[in-house]
Amino acid sequence: MFEPVVTTEAEAQPRVSITVDGRAIKVRKGLPLALALMEANVVPLRRSVVSGAPRSPLCLMGVCFECLIHVDGRQNVQSCMIEASEGMSIQLATGAPQMEEVG
Ligand code: FES
Repeated sequence: MFEPVVTTEAEAQPRVSITVDGRAIKVRKGLPLALALMEANVVPLRRSVVSGAPRSPLCLMGVCFECLIHVDGRQNVQSCMIEASEGMSIQLATGAPQMEEVG
């Protein structure tokens, strides 16, 4: 289980509201989104498209792709590579990505 080390400086950081699968939560503004979600106990972030096994962020630097989620309607966003910001709408990935219509 992920257990953050929360310093007094971290406690003082402003919070922003985001929704995760329709549920409103508060996270620290500016944290990498994957980290903010783990700090809010939103794990796992997705399921393997092959086995259905739960998957969670691993590298936190854009290499492993274990942190893919849907953000504001965009599929397969690496949540470790973007910052948490006010009003984000997150959907946890539950399977293979859907093909987007072209045209
Ligand atoms: S945690 Fe590895 S790419 Fe995001």
